[in-house]
Amino acid sequence: MALKRKNVNYISGKESRNISKRNREITRRLEKERNNSKKDSSLYMTKMHDENNVVEMDNVCTYFFTDIGVVRAVDGVSFNIPKCSTVGVVGESGCGKSVTSLSLMQLVQRPTGQVVGGEIRLNNDDGTAYNIVNTPTSIMQEIRGNKVSMIFQEPMTSLNPVFKIGAQINEVLELHNKEMTKEEIRERTLEMLKMVGIANAEGVYNMYPHELSGGMRQRVMIAIALACSPKLIIADEPTTALDVTIQAQILDLLRNLKDKINSSIMLITHDLGVIAEMADYVVVMYAGRVVEKGTAQDIFHNPCHPYTIGLMNSKPVVGKQVEELYNIPGNVPNPINMPNYCYFKDRCEFCDKEKCSGRYPPEIKISDTHIVSCYRFMDQGEVMGYPKIINTEEL
Ligand SMILES: Nc1ncnc2c1ncn2[C@@H]1O[C@H](COP(=O)(O)OP(=O)(O)OP(=O)(O)O)[C@@H](O)[C@H]1O
Ligand code: SF4
Ligand SMILES: [Mg+2]
Repeated sequence: MALKRKNVNYISGKESRNISKRNREITRRLEKERNNSKKDSSLYMTKMHDENNVVEMDNVCTYFFTDIGVVRAVDGVSFNIPKCSTVGVVGESGCGKSVTSLSLMQLVQRPTGQVVGGEIRLNNDDGTAYNIVNTPTSIMQEIRGNKVSMIFQEPMTSLNPVFKIGAQINEVLELHNKEMTKEEIRERTLEMLKMVGIANAEGVYNMYPHELSGGMRQRVMIAIALACSPKLIIADEPTTALDVTIQAQILDLLRNLKDKINSSIMLITHDLGVIAEMADYVVVMYAGRVVEKGTAQDIFHNPCHPYTIGLMNSKPVVGKQVEELYNIPGNVPNPINMPNYCYFKDRCEFCDKEKCSGRYPPEIKISDTHIVSCYRFMDQGEVMGYPKIINTEEL
């Protein structure tokens, strides 16, 4: 028995060396291609498919080339973020939510992590768009913080402990507004601190992060993210580290500020309650792929994918008495060795042996706004297409 287990998980020294060698070859080539794109703007300038979107993720594949094999963290993810809207991304731990957002900011840990396929179109609002996948680092530095900014889960680790709050907000403004004087920048920083609900803005300006409470630090993070009025704010679990009352305040604040500066939010969270409260559109991810997407109404009132249904059932409901909360049986498949059939099949209570035995299900459009990847709906909507498979041997 022990021998059998060893055979499954064991990688010999020779195999490991071969994998590392192959990984180095691939990542070196991909890095070289990226560097070459600097010279030719046609490689990273493109056009939006719909001008009403801020971002269009189109079949994005982000893989990690590790010493034990290729982790397909994000594998063919497609969704749009319309202007002035909130898109909630939900799914269990490890399903690729953060890697999706990091790909959009070009912050995936390189060279191990690489976006190997697809397009991420960012609207430039002048009829052109950047394809973030190939955009050179120098242009990304102008985009980050200015057009797209990010609020992280843990404000204590995102703020620099040795600089005062004022200096940290000033820095973002200075970087993106070269024409502003020192006095104007200070004024704008104080204005931002007031806008995020910090009463003693002058005092907090001169404080260090450790002198603030968790809620105030998260407000400062929001001030930094919004300092340049970005078109898209990515909030990756923005309230997980806070207690529920502060959570509600921060979410209210985010929603109000978003409307004030006409931006969109990509809200990543485990918490379906937060999504229900905030999101206009919902994207449900499972094992690196989008399994269902639609308006909040579609997903909450008519969840179709068995995984979404499981997520809804595992949420406690006020007033509903249950002996035990529902949990989805089984585990997520190994990301290094994904099956070639539906990734949810081994955990699915609706699995139909005949229908579900084939390849990974296609995206099926069951209404104008609602798309689901499940064979149960094969006859009930328009088949949009199967996910494009990237063969890492051919990279
Ligand atoms: N630097 C890395 N090297 C190798 N694998 C990685 C790396 N970063 C992420 N991954 C893998 O990518 C997958 C997706 O990770 P990701 O952080 O996006 O999950 P997540 O959905 O954000 O989870 P959580 O809800 O816990 O934050 C995971 O399987 C993870 O192990
Ligand atoms: S395709 Fe089949 S196995 Fe996969 S989620 Fe749908 S019903 Fe379940
Ligand atoms: Mg995450």
